[in-house]
Amino acid sequence: MDAFQYRQGTLLAEGVALTEIAQRFGTPTYVYSRRAIVDAFGEFRRAAAGRDVLVCYALKANSNLAVIDLLAREGAGFDIVSGGELQRVLAAGGDPAKVVFSGVGKTEAEMRMALQAGVRCFNVESESELARLDRVAGSMGRHAPVSLRVNPDVDPGTHPYISTGLRESKFGIAHDAALAAYRTASRLPHIEVTGIDCHIGSQITSLAPFLAALDKVLELIDALHAEGIALRHIDLGGGLGIRYDEEQPPSRGALLAAVFERIDRHARGKSCAILFEFGRSIVGNAGLLLTRVECLKRNGERRFAVVDAAMNDLMRPALYEAWHPVWPVQPREADAQHSWDIVGPVCESGDWLARERRLALAEGDLLAIGSAGAYGMAMASNYNTRPRAAEVMVDGGQAYLVRERETVESLYALERRLP
Ligand code: LLP
Repeated sequence: MDAFQYRQGTLLAEGVALTEIAQRFGTPTYVYSRRAIVDAFGEFRRAAAGRDVLVCYALKANSNLAVIDLLAREGAGFDIVSGGELQRVLAAGGDPAKVVFSGVGKTEAEMRMALQAGVRCFNVESESELARLDRVAGSMGRHAPVSLRVNPDVDPGTHPYISTGLRESKFGIAHDAALAAYRTASRLPHIEVTGIDCHIGSQITSLAPFLAALDKVLELIDALHAEGIALRHIDLGGGLGIRYDEEQPPSRGALLAAVFERIDRHARGKSCAILFEFGRSIVGNAGLLLTRVECLKRNGERRFAVVDAAMNDLMRPALYEAWHPVWPVQPREADAQHSWDIVGPVCESGDWLARERRLALAEGDLLAIGSAGAYGMAMASNYNTRPRAAEVMVDGGQAYLVRERETVESLYALERRLP
């Protein structure tokens, strides 16, 4: 993670010391590196150079307007899963014509909003959704561009909660039901079949599942062609993993090269535009959660460092037992190390951020929880009436506040007492 490095005993985000960020903005605070985001996206862009490829950033990973704005300026498209995410793209100056709308439960209001905005494509996940979209588009006198999300029944080899392409998952249309669904779609008057889509899961660390899913998609393209249904794009979803610990995911370039190599050998596939929906691999390693040690305590054999960030700020450890690196902002080189559990102040035993980390700690120390740029702030809650953390983006030697820390008053501003 070269955006975050030590200089003279202090951890920096690009050119700014995290001690300075803590002093200016308080803790807990999410800190992002502009350069790391641009570099990650740039790797995809370079790998796709000269081809008809659109990398849509999956907003759900981190939907801060500054992140969207940055990626829009870099030429990204966007993968959205709600009307709210569409509003964010529009508010940040993103181009709706580069938006794909995914998700298993789009409401009629969301469909209308997306048709009005002119999104590039709806990724449709059931025949019921097709019928609804046809009706909504018809009522507006429009045609909805559609790709069907096919469930290829491929095991991505990742955490079960983030596997989406298995037969038993709620996502997509089963591979063997896809042909029938395409036939239906091609007969509906207000649906325009444009592509095919699949997404098999997240934090995938090998090439094989991506290629297995692609093979299934290419097979379907042939079967569809035989029925006179021609597609213009293939959307391969997101899911490329990042390095949290010892994982060795394929590089962004290697994944795209392997995909293109496969597609170029396929007579009909190679004339299709290729879309991706990457989230984590664009922002995951570009962010950290800065937190301060409030109190150190021992219970029996275990040592706990209670910090001012908690499961409401970063839910991944509690939800998936996810491992995130922990870096002391100013390491105490001379002091004795112990094995610490890093926990938050929330009233649940599941409220931990890291376990059994060898560190030399004192109360008041700053810690950085690394690789927290994706699915960190985006999944934060207000549990225990904890205002959500501030968000700061560093650009070279400057730190910009991109989301203010919430106030407690704002948390109950929509609530009413009985008369
Ligand atoms: N496209 C679709 C349809 C998706 O469902 C997802 C993620 C993506 C794209 C982006 O996947 P990525 O490139 O970020 O892997 N909260 C979990 C991850 C949930 C992913 C959900 N879908 C976590 O913290 O690990």
